[in-house]
Amino acid sequence: MGVKGLLITLEGIDGSGKSTAAKHISTQLQEIMPERRLILTAEPTGGEAGKILRARLSSDGPCSSPSRRMEELFLFMADHADHLARLVCPSLEEGAIVISDRYADSTAAYQGVTLQGIVPDPVQWIRSVYAPWNMPPDLTLFFALDPALALKRMRSRQEREKFEQLEFLRSVNENFRRLVALEPGRFVSIDASRDAQDVAAQALKRILKRVQTSL
Ligand code: TYD
Repeated sequence: MGVKGLLITLEGIDGSGKSTAAKHISTQLQEIMPERRLILTAEPTGGEAGKILRARLSSDGPCSSPSRRMEELFLFMADHADHLARLVCPSLEEGAIVISDRYADSTAAYQGVTLQGIVPDPVQWIRSVYAPWNMPPDLTLFFALDPALALKRMRSRQEREKFEQLEFLRSVNENFRRLVALEPGRFVSIDASRDAQDVAAQALKRILKRVQTSL
């Protein structure tokens, strides 16, 4: 039997530093395990639905009408399905370690906010739509950071994406915390308020521990 694939996802609000950490982690992990196939990926992806989403993310604020919000949810879901079919599942079958910067939990957390007042308990509703067909991660690192601090960090960024507003991020953060509480065995919280190197080191340590237990 070949090596078992491992799916690790990185989650957190905008500005939590997970994308920077993802690059450090994958470089260091590849140095530690040069023989292991490692895939660093992200959602939204570069696929068809992902491209539509990326183009929209630079617009003004969360979409206003219920039908546009539903459209956006299904674009994120279509992108996730495409990600599974095109990259995640085939790579896991080949025994790779797949690290995804955002995954289905981002949809539950973010669209769990945009769908409020449209569907009852949107976080659970989205989870139930994903449940029959999603590939569950083996480990999810939640980059925990106070939304006010996350926003302060993002002030230095040139462009502001539409979800990067304090009240919105507070609600997204609440949803993430709820997801962590629902599945404490899958999530590990990382203190993302520390400096970038320290955050990446904490994350790498957790990942290595999980890789070792899967061998
Ligand atoms: P991304 O480019 O990963 O932002 P960041 O660099 O801050 O991590 O993601 C773009 C935005 O899309 C981000 O604000 C989160 C949002 N998003 C959703 O609303 N739903 C989703 O399912 C995903 C994957 C992302």
